[in-house]
Amino acid sequence: MSILSNGHLWKYTEFIENKNYSFNKAKILNSLSVKEIDEAYSSISSWKGYSPTPLIELNKLAKELNLSKIFYKDESKRFDLKSFKALGGAYAVEKITKGNKDIVVATATAGNHGRSVAWGARRLGLKCKIFISEFVSEARGQAMSALGAEVIKVKGNYEKSLIECIKKSTENDWQIVQDVAWKDYMIVPKFTMAGYTVMMKEIVDQIKTDQITHIILQAGVGGMAGAMVAGIARYLKKIPEIIVVEPDSAACVMESIKAGKIEKIDIERESLMGGMSCGEVSLVPWEILENSVKYCISLPDDDIAKTMKLLGNSSFSEEKIIAGENSAPGVICLITSCVDDKIREKLKLSFKSNILVIGCEGDTDKQMYQKLISQ
Ligand SMILES: Cc1ncc(COP(=O)(O)O)c(C=O)c1O
Repeated sequence: MSILSNGHLWKYTEFIENKNYSFNKAKILNSLSVKEIDEAYSSISSWKGYSPTPLIELNKLAKELNLSKIFYKDESKRFDLKSFKALGGAYAVEKITKGNKDIVVATATAGNHGRSVAWGARRLGLKCKIFISEFVSEARGQAMSALGAEVIKVKGNYEKSLIECIKKSTENDWQIVQDVAWKDYMIVPKFTMAGYTVMMKEIVDQIKTDQITHIILQAGVGGMAGAMVAGIARYLKKIPEIIVVEPDSAACVMESIKAGKIEKIDIERESLMGGMSCGEVSLVPWEILENSVKYCISLPDDDIAKTMKLLGNSSFSEEKIIAGENSAPGVICLITSCVDDKIREKLKLSFKSNILVIGCEGDTDKQMYQKLISQ
């Protein structure tokens, strides 16, 4: 029996093509420069405990979908933090504090970014304040306390926690280390994105770069996707088809691409893909993504647990992969695109295609992970 069929329908909610598509390398590298990208790699690769995360071939899934190769970048092994976010916040802390031990850093977070900031602050012996919304799980909060940060719970959603973080930081002269950019706040989020580009450098070293035909990128506020696109512009000669995947309840990149400008979404239901449940694309990523993303797909939560389980029990690869809620959508996007004839044709997915998906986190919330894979 096929690992995929078994009576299961792989669902997507919406698929769109970007009418304003044009991959402009110079414009992208104007938003995040080669110098910024290279500096991040040279700093981060010299950190204690650094080593590239594995690039795993989903060979069983590739066979099933009649594709040449599927590469899965496994960020569950990123330092001890289990997500790519470890590269961003911690690097931004290092850049803005420049060895000054008296600085207090603060951030608002859904979990993984805050863990990176807390870890980066501990590395450098700095005090750290983390603001989380009431929807962030107890386990995620505890993980940040365990890194020495003071964790402050705020009533309401992520936006409310950010407002409180800005208010308290202004009153107390704390340095905000946010991964989201807004007008007048672009430098720090750029550092976080520069940190994320390390993933692309590693991938380029791990495979022959010109092999990649398609890359699927998860988006919350778009920082990771924007950074990876900048990494593509920096390192790749042949530009792959770039596909962004988002929860259908928070498809802010898709809606912005449709409108040709940043569109804010009211999130009515928080997605299981917690790190991606964001209502507005951030400014720097938007400059990069608006023309370079060719397709967007939005997904319901339905297939998340099943996909995590299939990755975890080695149905897709030779080895077992610990993939969190935000890792599954890249794989789901690929499966649903392959089984839908219209999308498969549009994306020119064939036995010659080599796909890159980003496994952006492991079991960053152990309890949640166990609950989902045992469903
Ligand atoms: C594990 C994980 N994946 C993906 C994302 C989305 O990244 P971004 O908000 O940079 O688009 C997040 C955001 O927190 C995340 O934690």
